[in-house]
Amino acid sequence: MKDYLKHHEWEIIEEGFDPHLNKISESVFSIGNGRMGQRANFEEEYSGDTLKGSYVAGVYYPDKTRVGWWKNGYPEYFAKVLNAPSWIGIHISVDGHKLDLAKCKVEDFKRVLDMRTGLLTRSFAATLSDGKKLRVLSKRFCSMANGEVGAIRYAFTPLNFSGKITLSLYVDADVVNKDSNYDEKFWEEVSKEASPGRALVVAQTKKTFFHVATAMKFQITTHGKIVTVDRINIEQREKFAGNVFQIDVEEGKETIIYKYAAVLSSENHPKEKIAAQANHVLDDAFAKGFDKLFDEHAKVWEHKWEECDITIEGDIAAQQGIRFNIFQLTQTYTGEDERLNIGPKGFTGEKYGGSTYWDTEAYCLPFYLGTSEQKVSRNLLVYRHKHLARAIENAQKLGFKDGAALYPMVTMNGEECHNEWEITFEEIHRNGAIAFAIFDYIRYTGDEDYLADHGLEVLIGISRFWAQRVNWSADKNKYVMLGVTGPNEYENNVNNNWYTNYIATWTLKYTQEAISLVKKKHGKRFEVIADVVRLKEKEETSKWADIVEKMYFPHDPKRDVYLQQDNFLDKELLRVSDLKQEDRPLNQKWSWDRILRSCFIKQADVLQGIYLFEDDFSIETIRKNFDFYEPMTVHESSLSPCVHVILASKLGYKAKAYELYLRTARLDLDDYNNDTEDGCHITSMAGTWMSVVKGFGGMKVKEGKLHFNPFMPDQWKSYSFRIEFRNRVIKVKVSNEGVTTKLESGEPLEIVLKDEAVMLS
Ligand code: BGC
Repeated sequence: MKDYLKHHEWEIIEEGFDPHLNKISESVFSIGNGRMGQRANFEEEYSGDTLKGSYVAGVYYPDKTRVGWWKNGYPEYFAKVLNAPSWIGIHISVDGHKLDLAKCKVEDFKRVLDMRTGLLTRSFAATLSDGKKLRVLSKRFCSMANGEVGAIRYAFTPLNFSGKITLSLYVDADVVNKDSNYDEKFWEEVSKEASPGRALVVAQTKKTFFHVATAMKFQITTHGKIVTVDRINIEQREKFAGNVFQIDVEEGKETIIYKYAAVLSSENHPKEKIAAQANHVLDDAFAKGFDKLFDEHAKVWEHKWEECDITIEGDIAAQQGIRFNIFQLTQTYTGEDERLNIGPKGFTGEKYGGSTYWDTEAYCLPFYLGTSEQKVSRNLLVYRHKHLARAIENAQKLGFKDGAALYPMVTMNGEECHNEWEITFEEIHRNGAIAFAIFDYIRYTGDEDYLADHGLEVLIGISRFWAQRVNWSADKNKYVMLGVTGPNEYENNVNNNWYTNYIATWTLKYTQEAISLVKKKHGKRFEVIADVVRLKEKEETSKWADIVEKMYFPHDPKRDVYLQQDNFLDKELLRVSDLKQEDRPLNQKWSWDRILRSCFIKQADVLQGIYLFEDDFSIETIRKNFDFYEPMTVHESSLSPCVHVILASKLGYKAKAYELYLRTARLDLDDYNNDTEDGCHITSMAGTWMSVVKGFGGMKVKEGKLHFNPFMPDQWKSYSFRIEFRNRVIKVKVSNEGVTTKLESGEPLEIVLKDEAVMLS
């Protein structure tokens, strides 16, 4: 754990420059706007340790994955999010001496991310190798008002000299990925242009042929007056275009460079027009200027915070932590584009390939349901609907038929792009999360028509998969599901993972209900769907009903707990508290074989099911299972603690709930897992939000009504959150004095507070 960032309610602050922490800060201070994102790399040259990262949503490369141990059914590639052309570069040198913080003496270094306005600021004084000293103050943002625009205000002041400074401002598509296998470069130049004051490069990705146009235009001022530069040299080489020139500077006088960037992708523009359109977007941004662009951007943030802020009184670290999580989630996915999704690292790093996992449905959806307009979460569902045909193909490759759909474990475009057999073929519970998300969305929004629009087709595909994936066990006289990996990836190829069996059975039940509902409300549409998916309604639904009735669920009658899988009790049952500190984290210290044979659980598994379907279980059942499994859980997935916070809160285990909450809230700010330098844990950030709202706040939707059952963590004075619910905004404040609920906008609504009906008007 590191503790170098200052605590502040709205800002993330780093004071002093420590090159060893630079990559962590580059992740934490990342900015984005749903369409593009940028790690907190420096504008000037930096020869020290850095992970360069500029990202454009939806742009990926299908990396080669054929290996000697190839197994039929493996996908052909692993998608990787690409480090995209860079738009931030502003290189400075004085008399041949470069401004490079790895080589200069650096003083007064400060990096601040203002989460309220999405503005990254950096300031420092640097002494170059010949003793000349400069003060720099840079500000930049990726516009939330126009997702294709970024802007930088880079101010510098010579502190002990006057003379000429050489500047190079450019766009650069000659970039690499850090995890690039085979040292390959993934971008090729399509075209470039540069003229005094501006430059543009259009580059295309190999194999996927995405075009990205990156353009920049700048203006320089001193004392509010525009500086006209006498001679600008055009600097061009492969995949690179820019301007190099000298300007006169005077000791003590500030010069400001305004650099504007337009980043356009062929996902949104025709390839043949992309250069012209990038220039157009750029000219518009330039005409508005930095301050106006920033005002527009900050207004969007202001509105976002009105929708989704959580306040915590009495604990600044917790306040900063929750805002940081909300900030990152909000700048990663805006819900405007149904083709996009949320990679586990968002726009902050390359790991996990930037692709979509079950994390979206199981963890992120509740956040967007509670904090954004309905369209945002609906688009997350539509994304999977659009991938249905591919999920059916994916299942076919594994031998399933008749429209059975297996959604990928990891995907960019609907195709599976993950190949570890125990996950690709066996971690099939992801299909359940996608079905559950449809239910969760409808339960929350009341938008039942979604079933007729898209949801039912997805449910039928998934139910068909489950119906073919189970088999009848003559021995048990039950249906069983063999050879799976549950959410706990520390066990593979197990039989009858309780969670998977439960969510599969639930899907089969829910799909039958969905069929009845669509038939009743949208008879004609039902006929169309039935025809398109070739539903043999009677035959298929009676098979599903039979499975629902006769599914096998492993259970230990002695302890009265559900068993994670058939042989769980054969394991030596130890507690995490029995482990030595030097054995943690297990995934770095133990062999995989030892992990698989141990009882230790990576993340919520049985408890994941109990959390999703909590109303199916008595409080005593929840308690017994929690008391049995939580002590064996190492929480080595960042997705784990939040589920336990929610259940611990329900059980009244206040201290446990708070302890686990702390593990999620500042995971990246304090680099708990020693891996923030790879990027932030974006999808688990939604778990932090859930911990407060669903855990401490006890929020859930039951029979169309919003319920709250809040408690106060002892460490806080109060906390409050806002919830979007069916065209209303509701504010809940919890303090030692009690709970207040307020309808901030929308029609009157009856809610249930601590089991009592309350009318909000
Ligand atoms: C977890 C998975 C998760 C993935 C991406 C893994 O460590 O075990 O449940 O989907 O990370 O976040």
